[in-house]
Amino acid sequence: MLNIILCGAPGSGKGTQSDLIAKKYGLQHLSTGDVLRAEIKSGSELGKEIDALISKGNLVPDHKMNHLIEHYLDTLPADCKGIIFDGFPRTVVQAEALELLLERRNMKAVMIDMFVEEDEVIKRLLERGRTSGRADDNFETIKQRLKIYQDVTKPVCQYYLKKHNYFAINGNNTMEDTFAQIDTILQLIQK
Ligand code: AP5
Ligand code: MG
Repeated sequence: MLNIILCGAPGSGKGTQSDLIAKKYGLQHLSTGDVLRAEIKSGSELGKEIDALISKGNLVPDHKMNHLIEHYLDTLPADCKGIIFDGFPRTVVQAEALELLLERRNMKAVMIDMFVEEDEVIKRLLERGRTSGRADDNFETIKQRLKIYQDVTKPVCQYYLKKHNYFAINGNNTMEDTFAQIDTILQLIQK
């Protein structure tokens, strides 16, 4: 199985690149942000709690996220060729939980970390905010999302780096350029 953790700041292009990878390699795409937004849309009590956190740019608690991932892994289709984790793990606690969950299933994942300048991600998110309807695509919330990314999610990259399970790429240029870099890594690790 080819399992990829796509990491990067808000607006770095995780969703965009996940779609391209999923299409070329036939992988499952798990965007935790999309799953959480679907829960909000359902109008459930849990959705209301999640909405209060996401709309302020704050993270959903680890235990809820870990439970969600465990359920996802338990309900994978039998013919699954691999998973792209988009937006998970976002804390070291989540990374440790994922490692255990994968180990138990004889699975492994490699991290691809996309570096994009802060000015560029802010520009992309404000532009998307004109039409996305996402409660977190406004300047104040974007700033909080970026702060959390630096303080809480960046250490997750170190976690994978220390385990020699880590690749970094430059995501500042076009979507095609970013995908070409990811594609090269995926070709290499499949050999
Ligand atoms: P999530 O939905 O994961 O949001 P995010 O990390 O803030 O990232 P985005 O989805 O905004 O950006 P992206 O990197 O996917 O970029 P995209 O491809 O869309 O999470 C939202 C919230 O949910 C979190 O803040 C948290 O509250 C909660 N959450 C989620 N996971 C969690 C977890 N594990 N634990 C706890 N809480 C969790 O691109 C952005 C825009 O740029 C698009 O318009 C796109 O068209 C454009 N674009 C993409 N690439 C390029 C390019 N190369 N050049 C120009 N434009 C580009
Ligand atoms: Mg996304």
